[in-house]
Amino acid sequence: MKKMVAPSLLSADFSRLQAEIEMLNNSDADWIHLDIMDGVFVPNISFGFPVLEAVKKYAKKPLDIHLMIVEPQKFIKEFAALNPYMLNVHYEACPHLHRTIQQIKGEGMKAAVTLNPHTPVSLLEDIVCDVDMVLLMSVNPGFGGQKFIENTYKKVAQLKELIAKNGSNAIIEVDGGVNNITAPKLYERGADVLVAGNYVFKSENPQQTIANLKKD
Ligand code: DX5
Ligand code: ZN
Repeated sequence: MKKMVAPSLLSADFSRLQAEIEMLNNSDADWIHLDIMDGVFVPNISFGFPVLEAVKKYAKKPLDIHLMIVEPQKFIKEFAALNPYMLNVHYEACPHLHRTIQQIKGEGMKAAVTLNPHTPVSLLEDIVCDVDMVLLMSVNPGFGGQKFIENTYKKVAQLKELIAKNGSNAIIEVDGGVNNITAPKLYERGADVLVAGNYVFKSENPQQTIANLKKD
């Protein structure tokens, strides 16, 4: 499987949003990762539908929406209207996860379940065949630029095993603290897609940084 990178717009300069998106359009980025925070599920608020509409207007790459909100099932139709490639909901925010996943797929999107750093991979045993992707958080969600949690390496390997054991087609994404040190180790353990915010947008040449993350 090829190495994929999904830059997180959270670390972009929002005063130049169109230019930042066009930079990504002309880069080796595979997807654009969009972090939606509600100030309840996570201790921060990011952006909502008006900004997403603006992103959609200029983005030429598939959109990977990461919902860090309570009751994400309430907004599935609104997110579907943006025609994203992937919609990620948190395991910790979904008491009826199976139903929520089916609703996302029913609206024509790919469905992903996201795990906080403390949530064990083993809890996915009975949902792993229903999802298109599992997103492992390698920082506590809420902010860009945090330090990578080392325990994630073990979780990627465990998840890879769980996926194989159950005959699931789910791919693996990792989000938080991705850089030139952590990325190769994550790909090596079986990650398919890496989200990178600060490391990409705060670098001198973001397009080169994206290309470098995908190198062997
Ligand atoms: C954190 C978000 C991440 C964040 C990653 O809650 O889910 O997508 O933007 O940022 P970096 O790559 O800076 O850790
Ligand atoms: Zn994210």
